[in-house]
Amino acid sequence: MDFPPELVSFLRAASHITVLTGAGVSQESGLRTFRDAQVGLWAQYRPENLATPEAFLNNPKLVWDWYAARRERADTVEPNPGHYALAELSRIIPRLSLLTQNVDGLHARAGSPSVIELHGSIRKVRCFDCGVYAETWQDDGQNVPKCSCCSGLLRPDVVWFGESLPRAALESAVEAARTCQAFFSIGTSGLVQPAASLAHAARNRGAVIVEINLEPTPLTPKCDYAFHGKSGEILPELIQVVWKEQTSG
Ligand code: APR
Repeated sequence: MDFPPELVSFLRAASHITVLTGAGVSQESGLRTFRDAQVGLWAQYRPENLATPEAFLNNPKLVWDWYAARRERADTVEPNPGHYALAELSRIIPRLSLLTQNVDGLHARAGSPSVIELHGSIRKVRCFDCGVYAETWQDDGQNVPKCSCCSGLLRPDVVWFGESLPRAALESAVEAARTCQAFFSIGTSGLVQPAASLAHAARNRGAVIVEINLEPTPLTPKCDYAFHGKSGEILPELIQVVWKEQTSG
């Protein structure tokens, strides 16, 4: 991949870079994205029938099992070179803000020290009624596990459609978008709010916007640079060219 020299020198001088990732960065680990036609997670279901509070109340077992299957799948795969490249970048530059829409926990497993999980995590489980987090739970495969405090139904600690993002996570993400010199949108279709607005918040503060995605998205026309290909291939190359090959002195 050719990286324009002006981008290379700009990134070398950047003290704060913010990265927003989506399901595309986990695709090369073997996890399905949401909207890739036919093979995406939504191909067999409609989001409205799985990822909303109403869907859960309507069919708790279906929703619980769908997330349990995704949790088990996420446990069987490994981070890919794209995850590792971002973990390495956090060790190279003064400040890297890593925001993710992903709930699979792969950034942390790759060694990224601090990850802002905008859409929560399938690794965590809480009570639908009282909100208490469950450290452990028994899943007998027949019934949705119950809260040990109030006997309410347990649910994955993810943000469903129609729910608000965790306030602290969103506030940190907005601050990171507004104060970075460069904002990367990686492996996301840029269709879901409010995450999709973060790039615009960064752009409004003068940040350089870079997209790394398999295909163009609605953000592409507003990017300063767009690289279309696999993040697991592009990111390691970018780190190498920008931060490892720089001439000494
Ligand atoms: N490298 C880079 N990009 C990739 C790769 C790859 N190897 N594979 C797929 N992509 C791109 C796809 O082209 C697509 O544009 O990643 C993007 C994934 O988009 P979505 O499936 O819409 O996932 P995402 O953007 O993360 O969805 C955002 O929507 O469903 C909700 O809460 C859910 O967090 C999710 C949010």
